[in-house]
Amino acid sequence: MALSDELAPLDPAMIIVTCAADGEQDGCLVGFHAQCGMSPLRYAVWLSRMNRTFRVAHAATHLGVHLLDETDHELAELFGGTTGDDVDKFARCAWAPGAMGVPMLTDCAHRFVIEKLAMLDVGSDHELVVGAPIESSLVAEGSLRPLRLHAAVDIPAGHPAE
Ligand SMILES: Cc1cc2nc3c(=O)[nH]c(=O)nc-3n(C[C@H](O)[C@H](O)[C@H](O)COP(=O)(O)O)c2cc1C
Repeated sequence: MALSDELAPLDPAMIIVTCAADGEQDGCLVGFHAQCGMSPLRYAVWLSRMNRTFRVAHAATHLGVHLLDETDHELAELFGGTTGDDVDKFARCAWAPGAMGVPMLTDCAHRFVIEKLAMLDVGSDHELVVGAPIESSLVAEGSLRPLRLHAAVDIPAGHPAE
């Protein structure tokens, strides 16, 4: 079954998820994500098991979430079109350690850190990660015009999903 055509009008906003563990760090472009609880606040991202980011995230306790602006296409290309297996993405962008040592992309003016609460394997190529946003990590400067899927589909994924 192919749902892609039915879902295309939703045109989700794109984010970059980052993480660090055991002396390694990585991050990838993510289209599968959502707020999934209000009280207490929860946030979910789905990571492809093929990605290097997934392997680092598995061992990490926290993840960085960066909401991308329309002007962030280059950053989306770096994190979605290359893999940490071949490229040190952090050598090619501005970043700094954030809450709990999570590498945070300082050019993204809308970002926060989530504490990983659970991971769920539902037998597909992506695994669900649910986290609790750390309130003190929230940075939201200026307005955001989200970079949406339609403007990122030109990026060939650095890792195939299967
Ligand atoms: C438009 C677009 C959406 C993507 N959405 C996701 C996603 O929701 N989850 C995910 O794990 N990877 C997603 N990817 C794929 C990764 O961002 C990509 O394979 C990346 O190169 C993996 O890098 P890594 O191996 O360093 O983790 C997407 C890629 C693109 C181009």
